[in-house]
Amino acid sequence: MTIAIDIRRISAEDTVLLRHSVLWPDHPVSHVLLPEDASGFHYGAFLPGGDRPTAVVSVFVDALPRAGSDDRARAARFRKFACDPARQGRGVGTRLLAHAFNAAAAEMKCDVIWCDARTSAAGWYERRGMVRFGDTFFKGDVEYVKMKKALL
Ligand SMILES: CC(C)(COP(=O)(O)OP(=O)(O)OC[C@H]1O[C@@H](n2cnc3c(N)ncnc32)[C@H](O)[C@@H]1OP(=O)(O)O)[C@@H](O)C(=O)NCCC(=O)NCCS
Repeated sequence: MTIAIDIRRISAEDTVLLRHSVLWPDHPVSHVLLPEDASGFHYGAFLPGGDRPTAVVSVFVDALPRAGSDDRARAARFRKFACDPARQGRGVGTRLLAHAFNAAAAEMKCDVIWCDARTSAAGWYERRGMVRFGDTFFKGDVEYVKMKKALL
């Protein structure tokens, strides 16, 4: 069942709880803090009346890896995308990511968006129009692949 959500810009600090509990629970909280956080655009999806986000994502202006020297596209990268497990599978992540893509195009003036995707989530991203590029690689014991999508 689709649930009502409100998506809004939040502080980097307000992403930390979900980043940590969903993505890297076995690491110290410091593991989910990024030096780039101060310059990022952070978004949260809120349930009605909720004061803590149920899903979060962070977007940064960051050059597309392995872009050719003639590729002048301005690129955005999204990182630390996580939804509360109790609310997954109800369309919250889909709507939050669509919001982040729209913001990357309209507010950050980017032509393309990319990410380091957990291979466990790569199919999910492919169903939302992203394509894999480059080889798979590991961060700790988690396997990743780079993915990108042109922004309209
Ligand atoms: C990846 C993640 C953020 C997606 O968030 P989510 O809210 O569960 O995503 P959605 O609910 O939008 O989509 C999940 C599935 O539920 C389905 N779904 C169920 N009800 C739905 C509804 N009402 N509306 C839309 N989709 C719905 C979708 O079809 C989708 O399935 P599909 O991709 O096979 O088509 C979340 O699963 C998560 O936090 N995973 C663990 C952390 C992680 O892997 N993060 C990404 C790191 S790269």
